[in-house]
Amino acid sequence: MSNTTKNIPKHVAIIMDGNGRWAKGLGKKRVFGHRQGAVSVRKTIEAAMETGVSCLTLYAFSSENWNRPKLEVSMLMDLLMEFILKEVDSINENGIKLSVIGERSRLPDKVNKKLDQAILSTKDNDKMTLTIALSYGSRDELINVVKVVSEKVLKKELNITEIDEKIINNHLYTFNLPNVDLLIRTSGEKRISNFLLWQIAYAELYFTDTLWPDFGKEDFFKAIEEYKNRERRFGKTSEQI
Ligand code: IPE
Ligand code: IPE
Ligand code: MG
Repeated sequence: MSNTTKNIPKHVAIIMDGNGRWAKGLGKKRVFGHRQGAVSVRKTIEAAMETGVSCLTLYAFSSENWNRPKLEVSMLMDLLMEFILKEVDSINENGIKLSVIGERSRLPDKVNKKLDQAILSTKDNDKMTLTIALSYGSRDELINVVKVVSEKVLKKELNITEIDEKIINNHLYTFNLPNVDLLIRTSGEKRISNFLLWQIAYAELYFTDTLWPDFGKEDFFKAIEEYKNRERRFGKTSEQI
C-alpha cells in the first residue's frame, strides 16, 4: 500500500451543521440554507469517492430535530425526497450503496417509499456505502440494542457471558459498518448531538467553523489531510505504534 493511501480513513461521519445560520447571514429563511446544504452533500459524496473512503455517514436529521417547527420539518422531508429522486441515478452510476439509519417508522410513508426504492436499486453497489442518518438518535439506538439483546437472553438464545463488543456491534443500526475513523462537524459547534456515541469511541474528531452550505470538496480534503497526520494510539504509547 502506498503511503498516500495508507492513512485514509475507512469510515468518515459528518454532522452537517449550520444551514440556518448560513441563511440568516444572507437575510434568508432557514430552508434556503437547507436547500444549499444539499449541494454540499453532493460535493462531499464526490470528494469522499475521490479520496477512496469506503463508508460515508451523514447526519441529516436527528431524533431531536422532530422538535423543530412543523413547517421546517416538513420542508426538510420534502428536500430529502427531492435529493433522493435527483441523485439516485448518479449514486448508482458511481457504484454507491445507499443505506439509512434511524427510527424510520417516524418518517412519512412517502419518504420511506422513496428511500426503500433507492436502497433497493443500489443494494449491489460496492464502491462506497453512503449512510444517511435520519430520525437518528444514538441513545434510542442503544436502548434498542439493550432490548433486543435482553430478549435473546430471556429466550436463552444468548448467554449473558457471551455479550461482548461484537454482539453489541451486530445489533446496532450500523452493524455492517466499521467503527468511525473520522468525525467531522461543521459550523463551529463542538458537540456530538446524540450521533453514533458507541461507534465514535476512538474516532478522530475534526471541527471546522465553516457552515455546512459553504462546505466543499477542499474542506473535505483538508479534514482528510489533518486526519492523515494524527497519530492514533488506541491506548498504546507512541513508541509502540
Ligand atoms: C443543520 O443545520 C441541518 C439540520 C439539523 C437538519 P441547522 O438547521 O442546525 O443550522 P443552524 O445550526 O441552525 O445554523
Ligand atoms: C445535529 O444538528 C443534527 C444534524 C446535523 C442533523 P443540530 O443543529 O440539530 O444540533 P444541536 O441541537 O444544535 O446540538
Ligand atoms: Mg444546528
